[in-house]
Amino acid sequence: MARATTVSLREKKQKGQKITMLTAYDFPTAQAMDEIGIDMILVGDSLGNVVLGYETTLFVTMEEMIHHTKAVTRGARNTMVVGDMPFLTYHLSVEDALRNAGRFMQEGGAQAVKLEGGRERAAVVKAVVEAGIPVMGHLGLTPQSVHQLGGFRVQGKDVETAKKLIEDARALEEAGCFSIVLECVPSALAERITKEISIPTIGIGAGAGCDGQVLVSHDLLGLFSGHVAKFVRQYAQIGKIMRESFKAYKDDVESGSFPAEEHCYGIKDEVLSKLY
Ligand code: KIV
Repeated sequence: MARATTVSLREKKQKGQKITMLTAYDFPTAQAMDEIGIDMILVGDSLGNVVLGYETTLFVTMEEMIHHTKAVTRGARNTMVVGDMPFLTYHLSVEDALRNAGRFMQEGGAQAVKLEGGRERAAVVKAVVEAGIPVMGHLGLTPQSVHQLGGFRVQGKDVETAKKLIEDARALEEAGCFSIVLECVPSALAERITKEISIPTIGIGAGAGCDGQVLVSHDLLGLFSGHVAKFVRQYAQIGKIMRESFKAYKDDVESGSFPAEEHCYGIKDEVLSKLY
């Protein structure tokens, strides 16, 4: 399958075909997604939560993101990879944002970057797009602003904030974004935004009216125990399988049943006998 592009994604929207996106942070996961033909892989800064064990995404660095983006692009031979710009890597100046976005492409091998925020990021988006780097926006619950937002909560529930979201989506489209993630937004509002702009919306906790969907792969796979957000559909309980497998291995080593004959390498008796 040919790698998705900003053009083919927009065509999908026009044809009413749904766009699929998942997060990945390593080579084998990216390879699996590449094989099944997912449209886009996001190397999300959710890396901080689900892989690195940070409390929030605010601690994620450029070096960590580049390291994992490289692993993902090695596995994603035919899939568009979007690198998520970490907190404070596009806030300080346009030059800074350009340099960091460029690193995702040049060092990470990504085909696009994502950054959080609305009209306040328009100048940065415009500059990065003008440098030839496709930018995906991210509105609604933007985890890098969790302290400002007062927690992980649904956004755009009153007239003022809903209007602001619509205006922000328009501003990002005008600035040149090729797509926008809508996170934790009421479904009817996400649908309204989707109809108002010509670029694809990718929802997470934003209902079925978006042009596409994204989930954090660890959530979908049930890779860890703990709170599961309302918008997640879990397709497996891999965390449970991991724990059971590790426990069985531990028991087998302790009881002496592993390794068994079939796991061992032989040596000729004549060789052994000459050792003494
Ligand atoms: O970091 C991430 O995984 C994200 C998705 C939740 C959209 O930004």
